[in-house]
Amino acid sequence: MFDRTLLLKLAQTHESFYLYDQRVMLSHLFQLRSAIPWAHFLYSIKANPHHAVLHTVFSQGFGGDAASLGEVELCRMHGLKPEEIFFSAPGKPASALAGALGRCTLVADSLGEMERIEALAEERETTADIGLRVNPNFTFTADTGAPGKFGVDEEQLFDAMDRLKAMKRVRLVGIHVHLKSQELDEAVLERYYRKLLKLAERVAQALGRPLAFLNLGSGLGIPFGAQDASLDVSALGVGVSAQVEAFRRRFPETKLYIETGRFVTGRAGIYATHVTDVKTSRGKRYALLANTLNGFARPSLAQLVGQYTHAAQPPMWEPLFTCRRPYRIYVLNDARETETVTLAGNLCTAADLVEPMITLPKLSVGDVVVFTNAGCYAAVISPFQFASLEPPAQLFLTEEGQVLD
Ligand SMILES: Cc1ncc(COP(=O)(O)O)c(C=O)c1O
Repeated sequence: MFDRTLLLKLAQTHESFYLYDQRVMLSHLFQLRSAIPWAHFLYSIKANPHHAVLHTVFSQGFGGDAASLGEVELCRMHGLKPEEIFFSAPGKPASALAGALGRCTLVADSLGEMERIEALAEERETTADIGLRVNPNFTFTADTGAPGKFGVDEEQLFDAMDRLKAMKRVRLVGIHVHLKSQELDEAVLERYYRKLLKLAERVAQALGRPLAFLNLGSGLGIPFGAQDASLDVSALGVGVSAQVEAFRRRFPETKLYIETGRFVTGRAGIYATHVTDVKTSRGKRYALLANTLNGFARPSLAQLVGQYTHAAQPPMWEPLFTCRRPYRIYVLNDARETETVTLAGNLCTAADLVEPMITLPKLSVGDVVVFTNAGCYAAVISPFQFASLEPPAQLFLTEEGQVLD
């Protein structure tokens, strides 16, 4: 829980702001590490690339899961070595491959991309140990694969094995799989991990040598909505430990990675903003907030989905839509009375809607409204340029209680 006095103090000088709490972040980091001691961890930078967030996760031994050349550079600026940075993304432009080769472990996303890396390495007269993202012949819930834009179908990988082995400059040393975000059922993830260990074994056998790494991707979910239970990461770690042990006995040189963004940072952030106006229109109460769609887009995106379905739990559309109310809202005022209001933002568009008809302590101009779960996929997915308004500040609360910009 964030300190009310601190939030009110920061609200005196900031119209709207994110606050990321290092202590919360560290507690989730430690939780993961102690629950799944057999894994190495990568931080998925796209979730929240704030410099102090990166400093925190990297100084705790996490490597970097980079989704662009820019994120590879962020990892380097924070002192990560090339072997601690994994660059995996679909459709990498030639300039990104050229910039990243030799600076990280490139994870090719297609056989065509492997050929492009081979040609680049040839041109530079160098060699590269690289990974390949695989689209396996299973999903979280089925024993058959699905088509998708990510990675190489498992069947195609095995068909291409002779060509991969014949490559002169590029050596396939690892595989990466990521199928889905925000899973809250540890039994589903356990099953998925078991299948991945078997896939890694099949690839190693076909290559005729052990892999240097298997990246199990993410999937680790966090409770966004009031209805969500927490993922039991300890049960997950223990549930597959026997299979992991057996795998390690056979392949001691293969490092197992898990990458995650939201598990570390999601609950470590809040978004705070001000009430800028209250009014009544034809009997209906409205409270307007600063920088919502253009500062913290999650509410508007949830409302957008709500416009088109009455389903209680519409399907996720990560990272834009997780559930109908993926945060808790609380108000920092001392009102004793409550009232039912429509909370909207102050942009010149009706799409800047936070919550229609929500019951809250009675709001007045200047009150501070706080949203939880704003530490991941929040600032990064919000259109800060919309209407040329001042974007929210992104502040960081250190373990020692210092607030950094
Ligand atoms: C390949 C890959 N890895 C990791 C992540 C991070 O996911 P999460 O923040 O859910 O842990 C994503 C998110 O989109 C992803 O696409």
